[in-house]
Amino acid sequence: MQIFLDTAKIDEIRKLAPTGVVDGVTTNPSLLAKAGCKDIKGAIKEICSLVKEPVSVEVIGTMADQMIKEAREYSSWKLNTAIKIPMTEEGLKAVSVLSKEGIKTNVTLIFSTSQGLLAAKAGATFVSPFVGRLDDISHNGLEVVRDLAHIFKIYGINTRIIAASIRHPIHVVESAKAGAHIATVPTKVLESMFRHPLTDIGIEKFLSDWKGLQESK
Ligand code: E4P
Repeated sequence: MQIFLDTAKIDEIRKLAPTGVVDGVTTNPSLLAKAGCKDIKGAIKEICSLVKEPVSVEVIGTMADQMIKEAREYSSWKLNTAIKIPMTEEGLKAVSVLSKEGIKTNVTLIFSTSQGLLAAKAGATFVSPFVGRLDDISHNGLEVVRDLAHIFKIYGINTRIIAASIRHPIHVVESAKAGAHIATVPTKVLESMFRHPLTDIGIEKFLSDWKGLQESK
């Protein structure tokens, strides 16, 4: 399973990219605002230079023609982007046009299997079921990931599933087990996945034993 970083903070991406575990990045208007990004093009350009997989950038318009216009503008930058389109009827009209133009799309704000299925039919490159936000309201977010993975496999659908709205490492592991192609993970969650207290204790013990050996020579 691939891992995308769910952030627009370039310093975080720059810090974690060298670990070799970050394949792509997803942004949204809230994340860009949080990162204080005013020069969106400059930020997306820099992020694209740090990862291999597409960087998701979201449209603001609500009508298909507005979304298509924004998507064409983003794709005229000639960067490796996927245009994030909200899961609405208008959104899918836009996806249908953009997919025929070869523009990659990531249909966002997916909360049900039926929404994911329609987005894939419209030609989405990626679909993003929001696991955490569903769990927050006592629904099972992972169930949507699991169902979509099952259905896409049966029909040989190429749309890739991004498990989004990830809250903790178990969400990542369970998304992998449920068949998500990608999990988009906030920096804090990814950083916590590197660590285990027994690893720290083990390193400390090896180092102190090694030091003892040197001193006994
Ligand atoms: C990514 O594509 C989504 O925009 C993001 O994962 C949403 O996460 P949140 O539910 O924590 O805002």
